Amino acid sequence: MVKYLGSKRVLVPLIEELARRIPATTACDLFAGTTRVGQALRHAGMTVHSNDLATYSEALGQAYIAADDRALDRERLRGLLAELNALPGRDGYVTRTFCEEARFFQPKNGRRIDAIRDRIDELDLTPIERGTLLTSLLEAADRVDSTCGVQMAYVKRWAPRAERDLQLREPVPVDGPAGAVTRLDANELAPALADTELVYLDPPYNQHSYYSNYHVWETLVRWDAPEHYGVACKRIDCRTTKSPYNSKRTAWDALERLVLAIESPWIVLSFSDEGFHDGARIGELLADRGHVGVIGVDHARYVGARIGIHNPAGEKVGTVSHLRNRESLWVCGPSRSAVAQVLEGLGTMQTPQARAA
Ligand SMILES: C[S@@+](CC[C@H](N)C(=O)[O-])C[C@H]1O[C@@H](n2cnc3c(N)ncnc32)[C@H](O)[C@@H]1O
Repeated sequence: MVKYLGSKRVLVPLIEELARRIPATTACDLFAGTTRVGQALRHAGMTVHSNDLATYSEALGQAYIAADDRALDRERLRGLLAELNALPGRDGYVTRTFCEEARFFQPKNGRRIDAIRDRIDELDLTPIERGTLLTSLLEAADRVDSTCGVQMAYVKRWAPRAERDLQLREPVPVDGPAGAVTRLDANELAPALADTELVYLDPPYNQHSYYSNYHVWETLVRWDAPEHYGVACKRIDCRTTKSPYNSKRTAWDALERLVLAIESPWIVLSFSDEGFHDGARIGELLADRGHVGVIGVDHARYVGARIGIHNPAGEKVGTVSHLRNRESLWVCGPSRSAVAQVLEGLGTMQTPQARAA
């Protein structure tokens, strides 16, 4: 899985456990990023709709959310991967831009990325095959890049992994029903989700734009050889592609409009207290939509599920002060007892990191 800021690696087992307890069979991961959470929802048996503005997330969604044995012939896929792995390198946009002008990849790998990416566009592929091959290429490139995980800069000396040879691997199939993928603005999609029982929200919470931070992935998938600027050779449209969630001035209004537009009975929202918003205010916003509970994560264990701030009529039914954890999961459901049932006993679970320690 690619390196990604804000990826829910630690929270995923907890989100999957919540998904198993919530009485829902359909879910939308509205800000899907790596699709890691959507994969957990699928694994829990839900039919998942994966959405994000990023083109690379759409490719990951084809591989991990939409692909199943009916839509993807794995023998044919392995044949295609073998053909692409055997291609000799050739100079192209990646070699010039990300190996010579910037130093994201060693030229030997950049040349192979150029050859593989050109060939993918020559092949006659279904959208799911194409997304799966692009995912394999993104993941292979991620394993040999020379960054600290974001693409605003590369490290001065080559990272040791950049010396390795690029190798395409088959994306690991995810169990569960096949879902769908879109690339839409979350606020535009939200009103169309009335038939989706659970919506998972993980918007950006600070000024750092995902479009700029992962511009190399965006270019690898779009393959549009954009004009670029700066030391990191960012796509020229990074200057104009903005999400309202990345500006302190507009983020709250966008989130408020989003939550109020969702008609689904269940919402789960990931929250980081290192971002723009105040946790208690998030709780009050969700309480306009249903009954609310929250569980905090301190990266050693999940701490204390607390339930109920206001009920949807605006009456105070309990207190949830700001949980002093870096991350928390807010659960909003149709009744106080349903939310309590979903969260029962979860405060005693350990996170995967703590278990490994
Ligand atoms: C915190 S990340 C999500 C991480 C994801 N949960 C994971 O585990 O990989 C936020 C995502 O929101 C996407 N995004 C930003 N603004 C958006 C918008 N208006 N509509 C849809 N997606 C948006 C970004 O591309 C980014 O992938």
